[in-house]
Amino acid sequence: MTAGARIWHARKALLILGAALALAVAGLLGGAAAPSRAATQEPCDIYAAADTPCVAAHSTTRALYAAYDGPLYQVERASDDTTTDVYPVSAGGVANAATQRSFCAATYCTITEIFDQSGHGNNLTDAPAGGADGGPDVLANAAAAPVEVDGSEVYGVYISLGMGYRDDDTTDIATGNASEGEYAVLDGSHFDNECCFDYGNAETNNDDDGDGAMEAINFGDETTWGYGTGSGPWIMADMENGLFSGENAGYNSNDPTTDYRFTTAMLEGGANEWALLGGNAQSGSLATDYSGVRPSGYTTMKKQGAIILGIGGDNSDNSAGTFYEGVLTSGYPTAATEAAVQANIVAAGYAAYALPSNPFSSGAEVSLQATTPCCTGDYLTGDTSGDDVGIESVTSSSSTALKEDATWIVEPGLANSSCVSFESANGSGDYIRHYDFELYLEPNDGSTQFALDATFCPRAGNSGSDYSFMSYNYSYDYIRHYDYVGYVASDGGSNAWDASSLWDEDSTWLNVSPWS
Ligand code: AHR
Ligand code: AHR
Repeated sequence: MTAGARIWHARKALLILGAALALAVAGLLGGAAAPSRAATQEPCDIYAAADTPCVAAHSTTRALYAAYDGPLYQVERASDDTTTDVYPVSAGGVANAATQRSFCAATYCTITEIFDQSGHGNNLTDAPAGGADGGPDVLANAAAAPVEVDGSEVYGVYISLGMGYRDDDTTDIATGNASEGEYAVLDGSHFDNECCFDYGNAETNNDDDGDGAMEAINFGDETTWGYGTGSGPWIMADMENGLFSGENAGYNSNDPTTDYRFTTAMLEGGANEWALLGGNAQSGSLATDYSGVRPSGYTTMKKQGAIILGIGGDNSDNSAGTFYEGVLTSGYPTAATEAAVQANIVAAGYAAYALPSNPFSSGAEVSLQATTPCCTGDYLTGDTSGDDVGIESVTSSSSTALKEDATWIVEPGLANSSCVSFESANGSGDYIRHYDFELYLEPNDGSTQFALDATFCPRAGNSGSDYSFMSYNYSYDYIRHYDYVGYVASDGGSNAWDASSLWDEDSTWLNVSPWS
């Protein structure tokens, strides 16, 4: 298939598959979950004790009540379209993500539902079409945001273009001018300047119903409506037809760039009063980025009480971000409650999933030698005459062109500089990227998709030594050769190249001196 045909094919597949697009596969994060911390109060216990109870509580990482032992979220796997629910390891504990890993091991999974832990049934599911964009929205890849909470490996909700969740038929969420509180724990390094990565209160008809019809936390560096100091991202409030960083539309000097890897964002909304707070979800307290009266035109709110995640009120679904946990409360939380909730979030122990330190210096040239006994004279090559990536025998008497095809310039990962991208040393300016799980050598088209598909995270070799390269967006998959062709493959997955036989060796590479 030509690159063009593949792109067309994939666009079509995107349209047809929609929600099934997010791909994952077999066990990156093996091992049993650690026992949970025995907290007596989790965020929603704190809100309840202060008489501003949670009326929706969503998290794929942990229970938000000390007594909660119900389902946290549901995943659906592509191999047979069946679903399973992920529960906490124990009441009040972290998600038992081992359930997801084993259920999704030989296929890929999307997050189909995020359950409301508050008992109000305000579960988030696939967002329907709205005034701004069609639908239903794409569902998030269940494996795209690995993270540690309290030492256990769990998953967040990784939202990118076209993805979103919603509940238009809620119970007890604030409407009209009634007071509410909201918080969300987000990945401060994953954002963009599109509309609108939101979590909170929105229209029940998926349309833009005018100023004041929404009240949701917004996170990103979209500056069309509002912004603060620095270059963003900022925590703002989406009150419909406006992302507000303070009382005024546009710039407000008190709203700082907030980009902690784990960021706590809070929004409180009452009768002609509202507040924005933000801080580091791993330490310290929250700063008040705004507290005061409503912007002009928003003095009396017309909240409708739907809940959105990852989209704007009218299903504007062009934005990106990662969500770990969040709630909506009834009533305007006090400063003491806000502080106690932030302390609980800090104590929860969010930490980045540990990638091994990157052994490759930026700009270094390397060759990657196959380690399977069949093929130790072979190296990972990218063909100058086509766009195929595979393994080939290279010797000192090979042509200069072949030696260049077997040499890679290691660049900071296009999607994440903690990982790497491999640019060909053959002068084409092309990078290795996966597409339908096969590897190709293609020019960087500047798209987010290309960056994700061309980013690989070096890890200890799957056969116990040397290196393996984990796909950044499909974290169960590693660069592997199979029948001399390059793929991203999972151990025991559903494609021929996922075969368990020789998987460890085929996906383990020696980092050797460059051929050219
Ligand atoms: O307020 C910003 C956005 O404007 C809202 O999220 C959306 O409904 C509208 O397009
Ligand atoms: O390689 C797997 C996926 O296939 C890529 O992420 C996408 O570009 C294509 O649909």
